[in-house]
Amino acid sequence: MTANLNILYGVSGGIAAYKSAEVVRLLRKRGAQVRVVMTEAAMQFITPLTLQALSGQPVLSQLLDADSEHAMDHIRLARWADVILIAPATADFIAKCRHGLADDLLSTLYLAATCPVYIAPAMNQAMWSKPVVQDSIQTLRAHGVQMIGPEAGEQACGEVGLGRMSEPSALVDQIYAECIDQLPCLQGLSVLISAGPTREPLDPVRYLSNRSSGKMGYALAKAALAAGAKVTLISGPVTLSAPVEIERISVETAAEMYDAVLARASSHSIYIGAAAVADYSPVTMASCKIKKNEQTLTLVLQKTRDILADVAALPSRPFTVGFAAETHALEDYASAKLIEKNLDMIAANWVGQAQGGFDSELNALHVLWREGSNGICQKQLPMTNKSLLAQHLIRLIADVFNPQLTANT
Ligand code: C5P
Repeated sequence: MTANLNILYGVSGGIAAYKSAEVVRLLRKRGAQVRVVMTEAAMQFITPLTLQALSGQPVLSQLLDADSEHAMDHIRLARWADVILIAPATADFIAKCRHGLADDLLSTLYLAATCPVYIAPAMNQAMWSKPVVQDSIQTLRAHGVQMIGPEAGEQACGEVGLGRMSEPSALVDQIYAECIDQLPCLQGLSVLISAGPTREPLDPVRYLSNRSSGKMGYALAKAALAAGAKVTLISGPVTLSAPVEIERISVETAAEMYDAVLARASSHSIYIGAAAVADYSPVTMASCKIKKNEQTLTLVLQKTRDILADVAALPSRPFTVGFAAETHALEDYASAKLIEKNLDMIAANWVGQAQGGFDSELNALHVLWREGSNGICQKQLPMTNKSLLAQHLIRLIADVFNPQLTANT
């Protein structure tokens, strides 16, 4: 299972710090964003350069470092994290956490954290069994810290007993198994999303298209993935990239998008039609470049098939969500479309205004959905960046699609 968690990974100074490289590698493989924080002692065992290369981010170690505090201060770093993992955690570091000391960056982040904290202790077996260490472990557990390991076995010092740090794969598996349980509201569901513009060719070099950037559809695909869904994205021509976990099918014309969506819609739980599909396409495409011989040129266009309406009309249809981009009478057009196209939900937004909509980083949505046989419910999702807006819309879709599923998440 993968998900784009933000993981703050702390390394303290024991011989098991050499395993931290593998921990970072496995977290990245799962799709996590990883920021590494090392204690001074940890840097005696493994170089920051190694962990920087594997995490793709600068490694932090100083509490009062002007540069890193400027880039992201320690409180913002603690808030950025969905999860904090400290592995290995030495006896000294565990004692610090237990007593609330904050004399370096990692112990300060532990104190500032509001997210789940996982600690993987690693030390000599005699140190591990000392009552003072066990007291600290019990206290931290009582404070809500999750302990992973330690394991029994041969130790670096040659002794045998409890105190080995859990293997990186076991650490990462446990964190993902527990965090995924807490996060996803679309776990086990499949979501089909169409995004971006279409291009309707006039001749071999020209086409009719629109200003859609695909940003909203791609943000929805990422948010659905983070919410635990299996995501298929049918994309018109855009310059955006999608995470490798998303199956992306590239299309160009409205007809190609129609075929790609209709072939897959019945096998998905939810369909979100976020593409700006051409309403009309040229009746014929000229086989050679059209010459500018005449003063006027008449194009004959025909209506394209409505993908959204045809998905909603399928005998075994997914929960169907449409978009309505309007320049006026937003709510009236949106509620009319909800009924006429027989949708489950519609997300309407203004276009052609100073802020938001097509080809912008920002957007706001007015969402309408059906409740019962006649009722229509609505919710405003205020202007924000498309990534956050997509997370809010995905949560709303999950709530309306299956209230029981989201009640506990
Ligand atoms: O009817 P209108 O084009 O305003 O509806 C917009 C919604 O319908 C969007 O969700 C869009 O993706 C979808 N649509 C479609 N097929 C078309 C035209 C629009 O699926 N041919």
